Amino acid sequence: MRRRPDPVRHLPPPLSTRPGLVVEAADAAGRTTLWTPGLSDPPSRYGERVRYREGMALRHWDPTRSKLAAALLRGVGELPVKRGARILYLGASAGMTVSHLADWIGPEGRVFAVERSPRMFPRLLALARAYPNVYPLLADAQSPREYFGEVPEVGMIYQDVSQPDQGAIARENARLFLAAGGTYALVLKRASQYRRESEQDPSEALHPLRVERTVGLAPFYREHQLVVARLDSPG
Ligand SMILES: C[S@@+](CC[C@H](N)C(=O)[O-])C[C@H]1O[C@@H](n2cnc3c(N)ncnc32)[C@H](O)[C@@H]1O
Repeated sequence: MRRRPDPVRHLPPPLSTRPGLVVEAADAAGRTTLWTPGLSDPPSRYGERVRYREGMALRHWDPTRSKLAAALLRGVGELPVKRGARILYLGASAGMTVSHLADWIGPEGRVFAVERSPRMFPRLLALARAYPNVYPLLADAQSPREYFGEVPEVGMIYQDVSQPDQGAIARENARLFLAAGGTYALVLKRASQYRRESEQDPSEALHPLRVERTVGLAPFYREHQLVVARLDSPG
């Protein structure tokens, strides 16, 4: 009987491994790939590739399907995503990116995932059944008081809602939920980012959040960028 190839032996060495995230130069073209250690059983959530390393299932995090993965590959730098972190996620959709964040922060962390579409929400609920560290909330990020009381103070808010009033959503959610010194990561579409706050640059629209850096997401998303801002500690 022919032996099946050992999937571990055929993996190239990781470029860097932080707890919860593996960054690897995986293919012949030298393309870097991202993997998160799957918390659920079975690990694959939406048909993504899964590999095994030292008994651990690693889920491929596709930068063409997740703007956060694209931002990581475009060099967004350090984000406060680590074991045990608490994250508020606005615009969770079916939870594809949420699931990778949940892997990354581990079972002791929490992702509070807000989605306003009743059509997408059942898929988020299904994800939460497999991921006890995901808390789905059917709510509108424009009205954060709807989930005030269900979401504690968090170290990071991630916003991907494709709406005109992004700045107002960010300011209000930061005010209610973001810890002093916390990070706000916001996906913006270049052409339409501040239609209602036209002519404003992110620094003005997000105040008192302080914009630290902006990363273009091309070639994965030609129109989008990720803005990373910080809520400074008072004094
Ligand atoms: C571009 S998709 C998000 C994709 C998701 N972040 C991912 O990477 O898997 C935008 C989502 O935001 C949701 N959305 C738009 N406006 C919203 C709002 N005001 N509150 C909550 N969710 C909103 C939409 O229903 C949609 O599911």
